[in-house]
Amino acid sequence: SKKPVRVAVTGAAGQIGYALLFRIASGEMLGKDQPVILQLLEIPAEKAQNALKGVIMELEDCAFPLLAGIEAHSDPMQAFKDTDYALLVGARPRGPGMERADLLAANAQIFTAQGKALNAVASRNVKVLVVGNPANTNAYIAMKSAPDLPRENFTAMLRLDHNRAASQIAHKLGVPVGDIEKLAVWGNHSPTMYADYRFAQVNGKPVKDAINDQDWNANVFLPTVGKRGAAIIEARGLSSAASAANAAIDHMHDWALGTNGKWVTMGIPSNGDYGIPKDVMFGFPVTTEGGKYSVVQGLEIDAFSQGRIDKTLAELQGEADAVKHLL
Ligand code: NAI
Repeated sequence: SKKPVRVAVTGAAGQIGYALLFRIASGEMLGKDQPVILQLLEIPAEKAQNALKGVIMELEDCAFPLLAGIEAHSDPMQAFKDTDYALLVGARPRGPGMERADLLAANAQIFTAQGKALNAVASRNVKVLVVGNPANTNAYIAMKSAPDLPRENFTAMLRLDHNRAASQIAHKLGVPVGDIEKLAVWGNHSPTMYADYRFAQVNGKPVKDAINDQDWNANVFLPTVGKRGAAIIEARGLSSAASAANAAIDHMHDWALGTNGKWVTMGIPSNGDYGIPKDVMFGFPVTTEGGKYSVVQGLEIDAFSQGRIDKTLAELQGEADAVKHLL
């Protein structure tokens, strides 16, 4: 049987953690033949550490055959030791009266510390996924704080936006969501993201022709996907957790095990593709193979799409500017 791999998860006692850990331990993320050791990080506060103990008791009670070990930590230098995968879920939420700049600064502190810890102690091949918001900028900060690790090992989660977009299109066309292929989500994980179905196919035919309604695209589809997180908070009184955990599983699964040519969306440090400046942590359509992702090349960007891409890029550059002095 395979040697266990180490999977670090931060914010492990939170909502997303509760929907995520059991699925990692059951083999849904890395395969039903891959044993895992969970290295869980929470803040030192007694309440969080106690909650983490409770989650660990439940993980034990599942008797997962693939779960080769569980560790609880309050220090990233221990939680990230030799880790092969790091899912950075824990972040500082926006409190009452907190400005966006305060939120960025509070998270910059967390993600510089965690980036440095990864740089110091993680596996040199660690695959990092940042879920905690603002996810793209937090991933950018962690990457910049880890100069000894390959920059392409840092990614941000756009997969929830991708899955939301696929589901809306399937609903519109009255087909199963698995029939939708070649979707792209460009930019920031925020309402400015640009979900782009111009290249998408449904059972081998263009989605764009099947929908043939630019008004629906601009005025229904994009706002629905962009504001989906807010709609869920409104309905549930809590932010999306199970769907976020599911997207994190999808992201890591596909990165590690390959997509067989299927397009998925990942937030990755730009290499300059599509005019996005190098290192901007940007949602791109990618395919993956052998643990590496490649940006889908050669897509034509029309004027409407360029406008949307410029807007989400400007937002990301504004976030990077706001934390520049902290890096
Ligand atoms: P939550 O508040 O239920 O849990 C967060 C947990 O992180 C808490 O237990 C907290 O103690 C812990 N935490 C905070 N700072 C930490 C640190 N420095 N180190 C370790 N742990 C820390 O929040 P929830 O619902 O689990 O969401 C987590 C994050 O994911 C939020 O930032 C949320 O905005 C984000 N999110 C991102 C999505 C995406 O698509 N990228 C989708 C949904 C949520």
